[in-house]
Amino acid sequence: MNRRLGVLISGRGSNLQSLIDAISDRRLDATIAVVISNEPQAGGIERARAAGIETVVLSHRGWSSRDDYDRALAHELQTRDVGLVCLAGFMRIVGGPLIDAYAGAILNIHPALLPSFVGVDAQRQAFEHGVKVSGVTVHLVTGDLDAGPIVLQRTVPVLDGDTRDTLAARILEQEHAAYPEAVSLVLDGRWKIEGRRFVRL
Ligand code: GRF
Repeated sequence: MNRRLGVLISGRGSNLQSLIDAISDRRLDATIAVVISNEPQAGGIERARAAGIETVVLSHRGWSSRDDYDRALAHELQTRDVGLVCLAGFMRIVGGPLIDAYAGAILNIHPALLPSFVGVDAQRQAFEHGVKVSGVTVHLVTGDLDAGPIVLQRTVPVLDGDTRDTLAARILEQEHAAYPEAVSLVLDGRWKIEGRRFVRL
């Protein structure tokens, strides 16, 4: 697989930073070709700039359809020869045109143990549900929300004294280790999909 990454963000970009750091520490053999944000104010844009990475702001507002927006995203990625798309706190559901352009080559990081607690604020959902273990999931993106083949999961305990925020912080620490590791695994290409399962060869 082509090792040029396109990272899509909407916010603070701490997972983007974990990829930047892993690349500079040589834990991850890849290049970030572009960081695309749908939000002009995303903190992650500054992180990308500081690392000398090209940034593009592509607002999701004002498009006549969701597909048009996704086509524009695919275009930005393809013109930079991106091989693997990493969603890193990208608060948009990616749809048909992007998934078709990057079949099996889009990753997402989700702050819960899927298939539990899909969608927004998964940390709060898990906390309020009262689970004793939560964690992080990195998965391939398909047309179904947070439901593609799971590449890697890491667990964290939920402690009696936790709040939503202390739990989220514990999960985030694992996210920052898990995402570079999962990206590296996927780029190595020694895997296959069996049904719903991501299986290493
Ligand atoms: C992370 O918790 C990630 O799992 C979720 O959105 C959050 C993004 O945080 N998809 P950041 O922008 O990477 O700091």
